[in-house]
Amino acid sequence: MKALVLSGGSGTRLRPFSYSMPKQLIPIANKPVLEHVLEGVRDLGVTDIGVIVGDGGQQIAEVIGDGSDTGVPITYIPQEEPLGLAHCVTLARSFLGDDDFVMYLGDNLLPEGVTTVAEDFAEHRPEAQIVVHKVTDPRAFGVAELDAEGRVERLVEKPREPRSDLALVGVYFFTPAIHEAVAAIEPSARGELEITDALQWLVANGHDVRASEYDGYWKDAGRVEDALACNRQLLETLKPSMAGEVDTNSRLDGTVVVEAGVRIVRSTVEGPAVIGAGSVIEDSHIGPGTSIGRDCVVHRTRLTDSIVLDGAEIRDVTPLRNSIIGRAAHVGAGEQETTHHRLIVGDDTRIEVAASC
Ligand code: TTP
Repeated sequence: MKALVLSGGSGTRLRPFSYSMPKQLIPIANKPVLEHVLEGVRDLGVTDIGVIVGDGGQQIAEVIGDGSDTGVPITYIPQEEPLGLAHCVTLARSFLGDDDFVMYLGDNLLPEGVTTVAEDFAEHRPEAQIVVHKVTDPRAFGVAELDAEGRVERLVEKPREPRSDLALVGVYFFTPAIHEAVAAIEPSARGELEITDALQWLVANGHDVRASEYDGYWKDAGRVEDALACNRQLLETLKPSMAGEVDTNSRLDGTVVVEAGVRIVRSTVEGPAVIGAGSVIEDSHIGPGTSIGRDCVVHRTRLTDSIVLDGAEIRDVTPLRNSIIGRAAHVGAGEQETTHHRLIVGDDTRIEVAASC
């Protein structure tokens, strides 16, 4: 079986970060989302991985490489415009040939993995097998309606009145029958070739489309709140390690990863947390639920449930919570006598100050 990982798209929900980096490179527990995804895909036993990339393709290729790290060869397939998930299947036609494949959205995290679904698919080979997850409010998702044997009867995109609570997770198993379906459908009202329409086409034309339930943790890291939630979740799975320096006035509590070249001075790091290589933490309280990238400086700050990207500096702004600080961004207090705030803020940035300040 091959894999097709979708790592293009516009990433509008992850602005401003997606202006300068593909959203699949946002670090979760200090590792790009896409690396987590590729590890999950590799664990399904695939032989080749095709990665659909958009404008940020070059950055993705620089970080992910040719697959030597993951152990499965990677072929990059450019998509000029994000014309939909089913459009990605049409672009990958020659890469996929007539093989079965798993299509995996490059921003979906399923840390418990879907190996049992892959095994089930390989054994029974229905024309398509989707993965569903029970949600409390299905209205924001593609929703599957199933018969008693788990056969898909109908798929509805973001229904106003859902008839099932089973949301489609971003992992789909396909036989080559999907190629006929994607060729048969028309773009939707939003101008995209929708994979739900292709699946619905298979159902309507008498093909066997099955669903398997995944009941582990699942999040699409494509929104700020969800990226923070994923970060908290995946930090819990790290093993503590210590490769930096911690002075005698500092304390590490719980699961903390300290990478090489880190200096922790007069500070507390409360796990789960990770401090990236070369970063300096001084007179601060970090964590829980916090990832700090490489070569960052955090000085006199309390920082909880947050992600700080490489090269950022935070000085004397405290407390900070549920925040994402971009690459090389500086957040700090002004001159001593300053009584006003000064903001140099990029497009689509969001700033929330404490009401009492
Ligand atoms: P989405 O998150 O649904 O789409 P998006 O990236 O355009 O996000 P937003 O709504 O915030 O603008 O896409 C799911 C995954 O599929 C994601 O990893 C991007 C990828 N994708 C493609 O590779 N090509 C496409 O044409 C589309 C629509 C998405």
